[in-house]
Amino acid sequence: MKRTAMIGQLSPTHAGQPVTLQGWVGRRRDLGGLIFLELRDRSGLIQVQVEPDSPAFAQADRLRAEYVAEIEGTYQLRPEGQRKGNAADYEVIASRVKVLNTARTPPFELEKGAEVAEDIRLKYRYLDLRRPEMQRALMLRSRATAAVTAFLDAEGFVAVETPMLTKSTPEGARDFLVPSRLNPGEFYALPQSPQLFKQLLMIAGLDRYYQLARCFRDEDLRADRQPDFTQLDMEMSFVEQEDVLELQERLLSHVFKTVLDVELPLPFPRLSYQDAMDRYGSDKPDLRFGMAFGDVTDLFAGGDFAAFADAGAVKVLAAPDLTRKQIDELERVAKQNGAKGLAWARRSGEGFTGGISKFLTAQTAALLERTALPEGGILLFAAGEWKRAVTALGAVRLGLRDLFSLAAAGPQFHVSWVTDFPQLEYDEESATWTYMHHPFTAPHPDDVALFGTARQGEIRAQAYDLVLNGFEIGGGSIRIHDPAVQQQMFTAIGFSPEEARKQFGFFLDALESGTPPHGGIAWGFDRLVMVMSGASSIREVIAFPKNNRGADLMALAPSPVSAAQLEEVGLEKSGK
Ligand code: AMO
Repeated sequence: MKRTAMIGQLSPTHAGQPVTLQGWVGRRRDLGGLIFLELRDRSGLIQVQVEPDSPAFAQADRLRAEYVAEIEGTYQLRPEGQRKGNAADYEVIASRVKVLNTARTPPFELEKGAEVAEDIRLKYRYLDLRRPEMQRALMLRSRATAAVTAFLDAEGFVAVETPMLTKSTPEGARDFLVPSRLNPGEFYALPQSPQLFKQLLMIAGLDRYYQLARCFRDEDLRADRQPDFTQLDMEMSFVEQEDVLELQERLLSHVFKTVLDVELPLPFPRLSYQDAMDRYGSDKPDLRFGMAFGDVTDLFAGGDFAAFADAGAVKVLAAPDLTRKQIDELERVAKQNGAKGLAWARRSGEGFTGGISKFLTAQTAALLERTALPEGGILLFAAGEWKRAVTALGAVRLGLRDLFSLAAAGPQFHVSWVTDFPQLEYDEESATWTYMHHPFTAPHPDDVALFGTARQGEIRAQAYDLVLNGFEIGGGSIRIHDPAVQQQMFTAIGFSPEEARKQFGFFLDALESGTPPHGGIAWGFDRLVMVMSGASSIREVIAFPKNNRGADLMALAPSPVSAAQLEEVGLEKSGK
């Protein structure tokens, strides 16, 4: 017998009608001779009642959790007194039950899924994915994919697939390497992104490209990172930054409207990197709430309070009243993020008490005016080298967000652009300059002359990040299309022409073969879906993710391979 409907498709119009449903058995209760079962499919869940004298009873009695069953019966309203005014008011009175398959006793109760240890959920992922929350997340993701594809197709983008076995693409992480059997001792790299290939497609004249591209990065894992993840990767020819941002805004709002029926206000607000860092201490500020920093460097410069007097920057945050314990916890956060400490003072009348209040007498009036701190409120200060001070206070700001649920009072989704990133970043450890986005990002035309000068740290890149609720969900740039500028960039990051040629020779040749002005962006697609579905980890929106140690606990990867397999690819087992 074919099923007549999926459970979620049943509606009051089916009342009194015969239905045939197929799915998995959830909870079962035996009450007064009756069997009550939950039957579940992708679309929903329904209660099935089997009466003791029903011809279905014997088969129904065999059903256990996660058995696969076909149920034929009548769809009807539950008795009065058991109704709640929703879809659960209906049940099926079974007339026939067929066991389509049995199942092992599940290692965890699916209903308790969210509380079950994640390692267990990942080990039995096929069961975990049966949970309605997981199915909803995967279906939302699929709708987002469809929305993106429809939009980009309509805008004239061409879908192209780029290779997985390829050469290193520098995006700041380590490569995953794959040994080549046919070329012993040689390796492919899995792509960190399709960056070079999409630029080559622009050189090839494809004009507009997109791909849902798998990317691989061997880096430390966090809740919003996977070693194996998906980008929505896009590139456009004959465009300037403004064109890319405008199309992206329409695309993202189309996705939110189609998938969640949420209108994102357009255009998205923009902040320069400098402002984002200076006011929120992050290049991906969570702007669902305010709490921007004040700058009070000038109030303390050259003064008596030694800790602040010669600091590069003194930044202040106006917080609600805090307990001593909360202040200590926030200070720990500040220190973890590079600050020496977190100074504080509480407003009391027209002055301050506690913390560093005794050092604030000369600044009291100015501090109260600049921060508009209410009675009992607390000022939190971070002082030191600018980037360290703002970064530490930025982490404290997020600590306050979590402590007081500050984001909950704001919009559900807040999208913004962060623009004008620095082209180059100085790495203290190796005492060298490195790229901030990637080496193919174009500098701002007004700043190109600063390459090779003492001021090259001031070069602004034509790079932009898309920020959603404090997550970087996308990053892109206008690219260098002038080979001479590309060379200047390589020189700035300490790449000799020979080294550049060795690593990117094919690309440099292509660059000299008629490159149109071009630019693009890539979204972290998993991250976007994570935020859209309200999940707290990227693993909740990936069907088969790795855990925090990069392991697939179900398939048990990575795993050792035999000596014969190693030999085949020209590798030897290490001595360990
Ligand atoms: P970028 O390195 O910024 O840019 O990556 C683009 C976006 O991909 C997401 N992302 C990740 N998501 C999950 N796990 C990871 N390990 C991970 N790493 C990055 C982020 C990020 O914003 N080729 C350029 C794009 C371009 O210039 O067009 C690139 O890859 O959301």
